[in-house]
Amino acid sequence: MGSVRFPEKPFAILTLIALCTAQAAYGASRKKEAEMAGAVLFRDKGCGFCHGADLKGTRKAPALEDIRKEKGWTDDKISSQILDGGQKMPPFRDSISDDEVKELIAFLRAKHRPVPPPAPATPQ
Ligand code: HEC
Repeated sequence: MGSVRFPEKPFAILTLIALCTAQAAYGASRKKEAEMAGAVLFRDKGCGFCHGADLKGTRKAPALEDIRKEKGWTDDKISSQILDGGQKMPPFRDSISDDEVKELIAFLRAKHRPVPPPAPATPQ
């Protein structure tokens, strides 16, 4: 009782590879989900109104399309910009949760930003 025999080596290695692949696929799909959730938030919370739906900026606010390449914009800084606002950007602390901030950051950092599905029809 109690002694677990270590499986044959090739079997162990194959199992390890399978586990790692599954883990990576799971991680990638979680990341895609967060990016898409962020895309929807960006549209629904009105970020696109100032920053442009395409993130290219408007007269109201700067472009955000290259923010993922700007080293100064760490997750923490982006997070406080969203929660606390800036000089001309309103704070979103009361309307966006910490998890939603993470999703917005995932969207802003995405290499291939997902396009959100069409907005639901505006209520009458
Ligand atoms: C009323 C217009 C407005 C809205 C709405 C708005 N922003 Fe901004 N945002 C700005 C302005 C203006 C700046 C430039 C810095 C400042 O004045 O705060 C900015 C800066 C930023 C920055 C820093 C980039 C930089 O180069 O300064 C990020 C990141 C950002 N906004 C994300 C968002 C997100 C995410 C949302 C939606 C939750 C949002 N913004 C909604 C106006 C807006």
